[in-house]
Amino acid sequence: MINLIAACGHNRVIGYKGKLPWNIQEDWNYFLETTQDGILIMGRRCYEDFEKFASNRQVIALSRNPKHTFARARKSGSLNEAIEICRKKKKIAWICGGSEIYEEAIPIADRLYLTLIDAPFEGDVFFPPWEDTFRHELSSKEVHTAQYDLTFRVLEK
Ligand SMILES: NC(=O)c1ccc[n+]([C@@H]2O[C@H](COP(=O)([O-])OP(=O)(O)OC[C@H]3O[C@@H](n4cnc5c(N)ncnc54)[C@H](OP(=O)(O)O)[C@@H]3O)[C@@H](O)[C@H]2O)c1
Repeated sequence: MINLIAACGHNRVIGYKGKLPWNIQEDWNYFLETTQDGILIMGRRCYEDFEKFASNRQVIALSRNPKHTFARARKSGSLNEAIEICRKKKKIAWICGGSEIYEEAIPIADRLYLTLIDAPFEGDVFFPPWEDTFRHELSSKEVHTAQYDLTFRVLEK
C-alpha cells in the first residue's frame, strides 16, 4: 500500500525555508503514530529537517546525487525504487514529501492522509492539487488546539 501524508495551511502551503511553517504538537504526534509501522519516503530537504527523529524509524531518503549519503536513512535515487523496497519488505510506503515527490506519487498512491490547518502561513513549498484525484473521504476528524483548528482527513481515489 502507498499512502501520502501531509499537513497544509491555507492555499496548500506545506513548507517555509526548509521547515514546517508551524509547530503543532497534535499534528506531529498524529504523523508519528500514523506512520510508525511503515517505511517513510522523503526528499533530501525533508530528511535534513527530520533527521533527529529518524533513528527509531525506517526511512528512505531520496537524492539524485550519487555521492550523497544519509546518516539515519537508506538512500534511494528514485521514488519507484523506494516504493519497490517497501513492497519487498511488505511494508506500507508513507510518502512524506516534499512537493515534487508528492506530485510524482499522487497518481500511484492509494490513500491521502491530509491535515488541514485552518490558518494562513507564509510559505515557499506547496502541496499539489489533489481534490480531483482523492474524491472519497474515509474519515474526517476535527481537533481544536489552543492555537489552530485542524481537520484530519483520510481520502481514497
Ligand atoms: N507540511 C507537510 O506535511 C510537509 C511535508 C513534507 C515537506 N514539508 C516541507 O517542505 C519543504 C521540503 O520540501 P521540498 O519540496 O523543498 O524538498 P524535498 O522534496 O524534501 O527535497 C528535494 C530534493 O529531494 C530529491 N528528490 C526529489 N524528488 C526526487 C526523485 N523523484 N528522485 C530522487 N531524488 C529526488 C532531490 O535531492 P538532490 O538535490 O540531492 O538530488 C531534491 O533536490 C520543507 O520546508 C518541509 O518542512 C512539509
